[in-house]
Amino acid sequence: MALIGFLEVSAAFISFLIFRLLLNKKTHHALLTDWPFLGMLPGLLVEIPRLYDWSVDVLEATAMTLLFKGPLFSGTDLLFTSDPANIRHVLSSNFANYPKGPEFKKIFDVLGDGIFNSDFELWKNLRRSAHSLLSRQDFQKFTLSSSESVVKNGLLPLLDQAAEKNIVVDLQDVFQRYTFDTTLILATGHDPKSLSIEMPRVEFGNAVEDAGEVVLYRHLKPIILWKLQHWLGFGVEKKMRNAITVANRECMNHIRAKREEKSRGIHSEGEAMDLLSYYMEIDTTQYDLLNPSDDKFLRDTILSFMVAGRDTTSSGLTWFFWLLSRNPKAMAKVRQEISTILPRPISQLDKDRSFNASDLNNLVYLHGAVCETLRLYPPVPFQHKSPAKADVLPSGHRVEANSKIVLSYYALGRMRSVWGDDASDFKPERWISDSGGSRHEPSFKFAAFNAGPRTCLGKQVALMQMKVAALEILENFDITAIEGQKVELVPSVILRMKHGFKAVMTKRRKT
Ligand code: HEM
Repeated sequence: MALIGFLEVSAAFISFLIFRLLLNKKTHHALLTDWPFLGMLPGLLVEIPRLYDWSVDVLEATAMTLLFKGPLFSGTDLLFTSDPANIRHVLSSNFANYPKGPEFKKIFDVLGDGIFNSDFELWKNLRRSAHSLLSRQDFQKFTLSSSESVVKNGLLPLLDQAAEKNIVVDLQDVFQRYTFDTTLILATGHDPKSLSIEMPRVEFGNAVEDAGEVVLYRHLKPIILWKLQHWLGFGVEKKMRNAITVANRECMNHIRAKREEKSRGIHSEGEAMDLLSYYMEIDTTQYDLLNPSDDKFLRDTILSFMVAGRDTTSSGLTWFFWLLSRNPKAMAKVRQEISTILPRPISQLDKDRSFNASDLNNLVYLHGAVCETLRLYPPVPFQHKSPAKADVLPSGHRVEANSKIVLSYYALGRMRSVWGDDASDFKPERWISDSGGSRHEPSFKFAAFNAGPRTCLGKQVALMQMKVAALEILENFDITAIEGQKVELVPSVILRMKHGFKAVMTKRRKT
């Protein structure tokens, strides 16, 4: 155990030293050298701390597609691309040839047989059943009312207190709690109240976060190595073992509680319709292969939903406020739009707000600012695919059956050849058409929510949750980001800030 760790650390350290010594001037071309036995891994290890920005430099310099060579016989070669034509081909026009593949399922084994991990008939049934819930009007109303309630009873009081006491808050942590509460309510009907003033430890949320980090490292290691580490409970895999234990326990508690509620005849009230209740009552004759009486099926379903909805939406919100804090003109424009389109008379200031979906849709500039955030900081920064049969991509690259392809959405949003010379600038106006409405961009160019048949099912839920929180915070508080804080990205399957986003909140009006 100690030996494996020692070898891993030594290999990384030696590569690092060699490259620092050999390269006076660090260029991504030099770092892409394909070394005997080691392939391009040493260059990648040097760049791990700035993995995402490095991927932008590299893909910009290689006409948006690179064949990354891993160490000999390690099985870690992968084709890395941010070319919209390739993305459209893989996700849409030739979708049938690009399942997630067996390797994906092994890497993301924590998710079991949930929708993210499944392919073919099982995926079709999971998607049809989930779509049927998410498109129901009562579910959409439930989404809006539960978000409003978490904002009113959790988010605003917490930020109020921080403002009163002049305490520095980590907005990333606050938004993770917000989306943990909103997503768990939708998944199970239970409100964990993680935004309460005591800021309780959120073990389930932390487990989901840890698993995301470990999964990224699994992409870069030979399967035999991480499996051995997992079996021994060593290194980052120790975190994964712990994450799985916590996730299993939490999901099982919710399943047991829901079964008990049902056996006591307690049903969700009014428009409340959570995922667990829905699946427990689903008509199985309509959906082959789904088995809601099986606890494992329900566990995989809840966990996939938590992974889908929690860290993604909170990542979007964190980067949204970070970008606005650096772009005061855009912040002023969002506020101006809110006060013009959804004015709040003085007599209503102390009353709770309530929106409907079309109120939110009318906020075109806010929508632009949210899309611009997701373009520059897509919460799911890459997507892993594996061709069933050999194929040639539109870029001319040949891919073998079962090889690995990584679509980089982070790099896609920053490609000058796709978005113009101002690709790295934050410009919500980019999303407004000449007639003043919202401008649509094709999903293979703006792929934050994926594209093709596997497009995100929760896009509308996510946009709504982000807008409700954004609107309430912008109306109630001024946000001052702490000067000089380090902004680094965690290498993970979700785009998070390594040190959080620290800010001071000031009440805008005293009611
Ligand atoms: C800003 C927030 C969000 C972003 C950026 C986002 C992005 C994505 C992406 C990129 C995928 C494809 C992932 C893959 O196939 O590996 C995906 C799939 C999915 N998302 Fe989201 N998502 C967000 C929020 C949500 C929410 C709130 C929900 C649920 C309420 C949700 C439900 C799903 C589901 C069920 C899938 C699987 C679709 C399938 O495989 O057919 N997402 N999302």
